[in-house]
Amino acid sequence: MALWAGRFSKEVDAKVNDFNSSISFDCRMYAQDIKGSCAHAAMLARQGIIAAEDAEKIIEGLGGILDDLESGALAFDPNAEDIHMFVEAELTARIGDAGKRLHTARSRNDQVALDLRLTLHENIGEIKALLAELVEALCGKAEEHTETVMPGYTHMQRAQPVTLAHHLMAYVQMFLRDMDRLADTDRRLLSSMPLGCGALAGTTYPIDRQAVAKELGFTGVSQNSLDGVSDRDYAVELANALSLIMMHLSRFSEEIILWCSWEFKFIELDDAFATGSSIMPQKKNPDITELIRGKAGRVYGDLTTLLVMMKGIPLAYNKDMQEDKEAIFDAVDTVKLCVSTFTPMLRTMRVLKDNMRAAAAKGFINATDCADYLTKKGLPFRDAYKVTGQLVAFCIAEGTTLEELSLEQFCKFHPLFDEGVYHAISLEACVKERRSEGGPAPELVKGQIARAREALAALTGC
Ligand code: ARG
Repeated sequence: MALWAGRFSKEVDAKVNDFNSSISFDCRMYAQDIKGSCAHAAMLARQGIIAAEDAEKIIEGLGGILDDLESGALAFDPNAEDIHMFVEAELTARIGDAGKRLHTARSRNDQVALDLRLTLHENIGEIKALLAELVEALCGKAEEHTETVMPGYTHMQRAQPVTLAHHLMAYVQMFLRDMDRLADTDRRLLSSMPLGCGALAGTTYPIDRQAVAKELGFTGVSQNSLDGVSDRDYAVELANALSLIMMHLSRFSEEIILWCSWEFKFIELDDAFATGSSIMPQKKNPDITELIRGKAGRVYGDLTTLLVMMKGIPLAYNKDMQEDKEAIFDAVDTVKLCVSTFTPMLRTMRVLKDNMRAAAAKGFINATDCADYLTKKGLPFRDAYKVTGQLVAFCIAEGTTLEELSLEQFCKFHPLFDEGVYHAISLEACVKERRSEGGPAPELVKGQIARAREALAALTGC
């Protein structure tokens, strides 16, 4: 019989029971559910709402349930309606009447809102730690490659030279912002403890919400009971932050896929982080990165599920909201899986520096520098741009490069050219001279790495 069976004269239909049940996916909130119930019971006793002995029995009983679930001595009942009903029924089976007093001044509506906040808070911490490892791995790789010249691209066309360190540090900036977004989501999530909102309209019992909030690590309580039980904006915010993480990981994955190809050959993945083909013996496939790119769509789907699920729900709680858990848990699990696989893959990849440099030496990647050279000699930039464009067209027609032209040939295009042009258009100078803040010059990127590590320490609180 269900705990709510009082006004019913029949058992619920078996199919309806299965349809209604959420235990298969909300069972993962068992520890949070028990933590919340302990805090609630202790508060009820402090406020004189239940007897101190009953609270003691409840807290001890819940502790036993927690231990037994963790050791495997107790299994979840697949027929239970949800984790809240399961724990309460188990408690009552163990301690009798005292167990029936636990739900005083509480509803499953504020209980589930609390459990979800506590669960997501813990997951945010774990995802931040995984991102911190990724950022550190990137900073470490960047440190090794501040002088590794490679082409920078726009429109997938070779554009201007950068270094691998500069390129990797771009992702560091993205992942640091992702961590900051998670911290921000967490701060807001913890500012609003929902227990005590009851089913929707609070309670007549003299409860102490502030004390419960404090005990559970919240910084405040929800200010409106209808809002406290019926919004899930924190889950949407988290799904948004997770979608952005996946967007960044997916772009990076796309680049790694390209860089592994024979057409680029900029990197080689470690054998432990690549896979073969069942038919083509020569293949070494970057499956991890392709899966990450694919899974980005799945997390965006989770965000969309939450947004669409919430948009038409009148206040306050409606059962539609049970659908929040599978979506947000899937997003959380997917991000954890992707980040924790991506980091060691990145750490172990081999950088083929010579191929990167060779690619940077082709494609007139130094054309802007040639134009800048003339501009610094006094020619207006637009004219210098035109002269360089004519030089590039000439080189293409002759099958040569700018650095291979003789000074005489340069001077035919403009008399301002002198020997200095060869230094100005050398790849090393092109990179080293780009000293504007945020640019690729090696000493600047070293500074970027140091500052990124400081930002990381501030975000992880160490
Ligand atoms: N399993 C439910 C959920 O996840 C718990 C809250 C149920 N509340 C109710 N009034 N039926 O949303």
